[in-house]
Parts: sequence; structure tokens; C-alpha cells
Amino acid sequence: MTDKLLRLGVNIDHVATVRNARGGDYPSPLRAAKLAEDAGADGITAHLREDRRHISDADIDGLMEMLTVPLNFEMAATDEMQAIALRHKPHAVCIVPEKREERTTEGGLEVAREENKLAHFIAPLREAGCRVSIFIAADMRQVEAAHRIGAEIVELHAGAYCDLFAEGRIEESNAELERLREMSAYGHSLGLEVHVGHGITFDTVKPIAAFPEVMELNIGHFIIGEAIFIGLKPAIAQMRALMDEARA
Ligand code: PXP
Repeated sequence: MTDKLLRLGVNIDHVATVRNARGGDYPSPLRAAKLAEDAGADGITAHLREDRRHISDADIDGLMEMLTVPLNFEMAATDEMQAIALRHKPHAVCIVPEKREERTTEGGLEVAREENKLAHFIAPLREAGCRVSIFIAADMRQVEAAHRIGAEIVELHAGAYCDLFAEGRIEESNAELERLREMSAYGHSLGLEVHVGHGITFDTVKPIAAFPEVMELNIGHFIIGEAIFIGLKPAIAQMRALMDEARA
């Protein structure tokens, strides 16, 4: 990713969701990734799920070939995914929990309970030169465990904050925002690079982008949804502008 103070990673999974609804090649996530690059995305994020419900293996091959910005490859901690990551050696690998029946990545990874297993899992990825990020809830136990296993980055799950905000439960959403703020500062104090992602919209981006310790936001569903109404490039440009306003 570039050395901009706060980077924007655009997640293109749901372009593939729309494509797969008809089983053909259209719309192409690679074309969306190229447009996102042109619109100023600092990186592209894609989640190769075990069930391949959106992004496919061929999409990852194509992204690795064509991207000029870094790929943040999201994956579950499985042997199959580790082998794919080691073959491609993307710029970053973000380890996420995955349940087949979930609609999206509902929670953060339980690092604290699986410390040994995860430490062994990420070691070869780090040796291969990938930056390893762990997707966790804004919880001190998980931040500390991610640090202990040798991850370089934590991505804090913003879903609770964003969902409560969308439901109009403002006091509760403010409490979640405060947890994100505290854990961003805490993770940074441990030497971790802090990213935030999941559920972020035009309405929720600024308070998160204002945290000075946060280095990257990964945003997908809302940007792709908004692209239906205003186009992909304007949706990315508007998100970028809100991020910049928050940092100004
Ligand atoms: N970051 C991580 C680790 C994710 O799993 C996801 C969802 O796939 C996102 C960011 C993007 O979330 P959204 O699509 O809700 O913006």
C-alpha cells in the first residue's frame, strides 16, 4: 500500500457475488479492481471463502497478475488457504474466522483460545514475506494474543459499531466506537499496525477515520452497493474524501 496516512482498501467480493448470481463472467471483479485503483484505492481486498461463494481461485490468479496496488488476501486459517497464499505470496494475508452458514464474517477470530495453532499457522506466511493481519473484535485479550503470536497487523471488526448505528441505537454504538478507539490506541502501543473493517458506510467512516492510530480501512459491501446508484469511482472518491476530512 502507499504511504498515505490512512489507506483505503476496497473489498471487491460483492462484485463477484453479483457475477455469480448468473454464473457467467459479468460483472468482472478484476475490472472493478482496476477502476478502484484508478479511483485512488490504496489496495484491493478479496476474501477467498472455502465455499467460493463469491471470489474464485481464478479471480485471485487474475488479481495477482494485474494489480499495481497491493492485494490484501482474506482467508480462513486452513491448510488449503495457506497453500494458496504461499503460492501467490500476496502483499498481506488477513486471517478471518469463517463459518459456512454465516452471511458474512460475523465476528472476529478467537486468537486467545487458539494461540499456539495460529502462531504455527502464520509463521510460514511471515517467512514468505506476507504481512499477516488478524481480524479480531476490539477486545484487549484478542489484541494481546494477536501480538503474542507475532502478527504485524490487527484489523478491528467495526460491525458492532456500524450495525448499532444503522439501527439508530446511538448510545450503544457510541460505546462500541469507544472500544474501537481504545483498542486502536492499545494495539498501536504494542507496536501493531491497526486496521479497521466491516460494515463501514459514509455515515460511520469519519469517527473511525479520525483515530490517529488507524492506518487502513477495508470497505466493501457499502461501496459496491453505492456504486449501483452513483458509480464505483464516485463512491470510492466520496469515501476517500470523508476519510481525508476526518484526518484534516
Ligand atoms: N475486513 C474484513 C476482515 C472482512 O472480512 C470484510 C468483509 O468481508 C471487510 C473488511 C469488508 O466489510 P464490508 O464488506 O462490510 O465493508
